Amino acid sequence: MVGGSHLLLLPLLLLLLGAGCRDGRRCAAAAAQRVPQQEVEALKGIARKLNKMDWDFSVDPCSGSRTWVNASNSNSYPKSSYPNFPVSNLTCDCSFKNHTECHIVSLELMRQNLSGVLPEEVVNLTYLTNLSLQGNRLSGTIPKELGRMPFLKSINLEGNQLEGPIPPELGNIISLERFFISANDITGELPSTFSRLTNMTDLRVTDLSGPSMKFPPLQNAQHLTKVVLRNCSIYGEIPPYLGQMQYLILMDLSFNKLTGQIPQDFGRMMALQYLDVSYNNFTDSSLFINCGGKSVEVDGNIYEDDSSRIGTSTFVLSNDRKWAYSSTGDFVGNPDADYIARNTSKLILDHPELYTEARLSPLSLKYYGVCMENGEYSVKLHFAEIVFTEDHTFSSNGKRIFDVFIQGTKVLKDFNIQDEAGGVHRVITKTFTTNITENTLEIHFYWAGKGTTGVPDRGVYGPLISAISVTQLSRNHHGISTGLMITIIVAACLIVILALILCYIKFFRKKNLKGNGLQFFYHGRKTDTSDLQTRTQYFFSLKEIESATKHFDPANKIGEGRGDHQLKLDWPTRYNICLGTAKGLCYLHEESTLKIIHRDIKPSNILLDERLQPKISDFGLAKLNDDRGHMSTRIAGTVGYMAPEYATRGCLTCKADVYSFGVVTLEIVSGMSNTSNMSDDEYLHLLDWAERLKQEGRLLEIVDQRLGSHYSQDEALRMLNVALLCTNASPVQRPKMSSVVNMLCGQAPLEVVPDEDLSGYIRPSDSQSNQSMNNSLTEWSFAPSSDPSILLQNSVESGYLPSSSSPSSKL
Ligand SMILES: *[C@@H]1O[C@H](CO)[C@@H](O)[C@H](O)[C@H]1NC(C)=O
Ligand SMILES: *[C@@H]1O[C@H](CO)[C@@H](O)[C@H](O)[C@H]1NC(C)=O
Ligand SMILES: *[C@@H]1O[C@H](CO)[C@@H](O)[C@H](O)[C@H]1NC(C)=O
Ligand SMILES: *[C@@H]1O[C@H](CO)[C@@H](O)[C@H](O)[C@H]1NC(C)=O
Ligand SMILES: *[C@@H]1O[C@H](CO)[C@@H](O)[C@H](O)[C@H]1NC(C)=O
Ligand SMILES: *[C@@H]1O[C@H](CO)[C@@H](O)[C@H](O)[C@H]1NC(C)=O
Ligand SMILES: *[C@@H]1O[C@H](CO)[C@@H](O)[C@H](O)[C@H]1NC(C)=O
Ligand SMILES: *[C@@H]1O[C@H](CO)[C@@H](O)[C@H](O)[C@H]1NC(C)=O
Ligand SMILES: *[C@@H]1O[C@H](CO)[C@@H](O)[C@H](O)[C@H]1NC(C)=O
Ligand SMILES: *[C@@H]1O[C@H](CO)[C@@H](O)[C@H](O)[C@H]1NC(C)=O
Ligand SMILES: *[C@@H]1O[C@H](CO)[C@@H](O)[C@H](O)[C@H]1NC(C)=O
Repeated sequence: MVGGSHLLLLPLLLLLLGAGCRDGRRCAAAAAQRVPQQEVEALKGIARKLNKMDWDFSVDPCSGSRTWVNASNSNSYPKSSYPNFPVSNLTCDCSFKNHTECHIVSLELMRQNLSGVLPEEVVNLTYLTNLSLQGNRLSGTIPKELGRMPFLKSINLEGNQLEGPIPPELGNIISLERFFISANDITGELPSTFSRLTNMTDLRVTDLSGPSMKFPPLQNAQHLTKVVLRNCSIYGEIPPYLGQMQYLILMDLSFNKLTGQIPQDFGRMMALQYLDVSYNNFTDSSLFINCGGKSVEVDGNIYEDDSSRIGTSTFVLSNDRKWAYSSTGDFVGNPDADYIARNTSKLILDHPELYTEARLSPLSLKYYGVCMENGEYSVKLHFAEIVFTEDHTFSSNGKRIFDVFIQGTKVLKDFNIQDEAGGVHRVITKTFTTNITENTLEIHFYWAGKGTTGVPDRGVYGPLISAISVTQLSRNHHGISTGLMITIIVAACLIVILALILCYIKFFRKKNLKGNGLQFFYHGRKTDTSDLQTRTQYFFSLKEIESATKHFDPANKIGEGRGDHQLKLDWPTRYNICLGTAKGLCYLHEESTLKIIHRDIKPSNILLDERLQPKISDFGLAKLNDDRGHMSTRIAGTVGYMAPEYATRGCLTCKADVYSFGVVTLEIVSGMSNTSNMSDDEYLHLLDWAERLKQEGRLLEIVDQRLGSHYSQDEALRMLNVALLCTNASPVQRPKMSSVVNMLCGQAPLEVVPDEDLSGYIRPSDSQSNQSMNNSLTEWSFAPSSDPSILLQNSVESGYLPSSSSPSSKL
């Protein structure tokens, strides 16, 4: 009983002492007893080395006093993201020795403008699990002593000026889960000892200078969720095991010297939301196709198998998904005509294996290179006339005449292989230079109705192509201001594949509704058609699904017919799309030192996989955000989704994405498009209508009526209110994406905590922001309109500006 009352008294006593500590030194002695002297000494050493002057050693470091726990902006921040305001936080675990002893478990000194060197004294904070010194000006090397810390889970040294190699000893910290060393001046390679770090989930390394290295050994880190190895001089191939990492959400391997191919498995990584492999040396962008024939090797290049016999009106994707063909038209008068021509007599020419078979089309034959890196290419077309003869028989009267277009430009008109080659069974190659700007190459062979059609058999005419080789000449590295535009080739590729698939769907819907319709695209499962579509995992954009379902009309499901897997954009799905998108944006904005602004969030840039999980795509416009808060830049985006301050002044911050996200959310809930006119003339825009309904307390009326009562009012109100917060005309009044996630989940009240980052907006007198604004105006007025993705002369003309003009006359 005595012990029991002690137990009660002790915390009470500590509480009282703690209260006393707030303003006095009186209790210092009592408090200090709880932290071992060794750790206090270590802290003193750390303070010395870091030039951190404001720790008050007369106060117990574990007392929670303001001198030890100080985040100047906010009392709490989401665990999942790093704050961008100064944080000085020391966390203790006081449950040791029957709650009589405290140990320091977490030391976070972020953005404190600390200079000095990384103190090896931390090694005496034996129980430390988290060490973050992110965003200071620390120099010197990483002490190898860190390798002796047995409990460390997280080391964040991002954004300092640390030099020298990463000590191999760090591979001994087998408890390590997160290691962030981006944006320092580290040299050398990631030590091979990192292969021991089996618990690693999050690894962020950038800008390693020094000798090149192979891809680091991460095969044992099966729980990796995020890997950033940007600009690390990594050469060689991407190890295939990465494709098996089922938890991987984010992977940035840009700015390396990787070669070979992007493993095919990458398309099947379900968790992957962000992949950047741009600025590497992948050979992926070359194409060698043996049209009509089997795979052969010529001059060290493998010409891929193109022996599919599928002829008319189809879209055939190659096994490796790098290219595809489509062919339309029927051979008039010969339904049995083959779409592959074969030599009928011995060919005596160089590399006959390329010419013994050729693809033939009655009208139009298109080859697409997909997923290609943008740049300048050489396209070489290999022809040989193998159908007609020169033996003065009937067959020799045939005349084959067709046109060739590359990227829509006619490069060959009235092309006659025989004439050009100087006879039949002779090779003629034609080489053209072309630019690929949107990751797709299109080579179009077209019969314009000229030449013979019935020699030697009926239906032997039309374009004939024996082989295609495409090689890259140079890369397009169009830099915009920072010269660091992120291009996500794979994301772009998905869109291209999607577009191609949609062409196919269109055809299928028209031609073949009796079949299983479309649902097999969603499930990537083989149904009753040929297996070629089923090898790929397909993605659809929210936009496509919107329009395919008449803006989410549940009665208009994709996959009608006898589909048992029907697509439902029911309420939970909509909610998930919204939440998933918010989380994706949160990663981009808040989870790395180099923040990324997407700039073009809209339904067509949100891809849905077969489980309808959203993935943000098309980073063609993405900008790296820097710490200055906002950047002025050339304006690009899409009308209707663009934040007013960005549309009118070109002022770009993460809050521009937040605005676009708000608009998309409104569309998802209402099933309506923001830009299309509504029946009631009074409300031109969804956004205005929502504002009006909110004022009248009838917000739920905007919910898509086709859902009937099958939705959660609670979630709907949350989504709608979040959408309205996000679309506030003033960027400062919009929430950060991390709070959006919390609000959507119901874990945070619906409110906006003003964000110091954007203070430039409300204080236009601030010199820096003034300057940026001027820049943005100048840049804007001379903004080249070469950006294909839209845009605007000014927001009035574009017909869009929220009329709910809120109190932001300063904007
Ligand atoms: C922990 O402390 C309480 C009260 O001070 C005491 O009753 C208990 O026996 C202690 N437990 C151990 C394992 O020392
Ligand atoms: C908290 O930190 C800010 C800036 O980092 C500083 O100005 C302020 O004095 C600190 N407060 C305390 C109580 O140490
Ligand atoms: C200090 O860190 C702890 C644990 O990470 C966290 O719960 C707390 O909110 C932080 N305090 C401040 C003021 O940042
Ligand atoms: C950071 O510290 C340096 C000197 O230690 C000082 O010159 C500089 O102004 C400080 N920067 C900020 C933002 O406080
Ligand atoms: C750790 O503490 C011990 C004894 O308290 C001391 O001798 C040693 O120098 C300290 N280590 C470091 C790296 O400061
Ligand atoms: C320490 O880092 C881990 C991640 O490795 C995180 O889950 C945990 O919340 C952090 N703890 C503290 C006290 O900051
Ligand atoms: C690795 O993680 C597992 C699961 O979280 C944990 O049980 C184990 O103790 C960790 N290993 C180390 C060395 O910390
Ligand atoms: C890559 O890192 C080097 C330093 O190692 C740096 O000079 C260079 O600017 C970085 N390049 C990019 C594209 O980030
Ligand atoms: C990239 O690949 C090309 C051709 O394979 C080669 O000539 C070039 O040296 C490579 N560049 C780097 C940086 O590895
Ligand atoms: C086609 O040409 C190849 C290569 O010259 C030859 O081996 C083959 O026999 C020819 N086919 C026919 C049917 O003559
Ligand atoms: C490709 O683009 C480059 C640079 O924009 C240009 O110089 C070149 O003429 C273009 N080539 C073709 C074939 O259009």
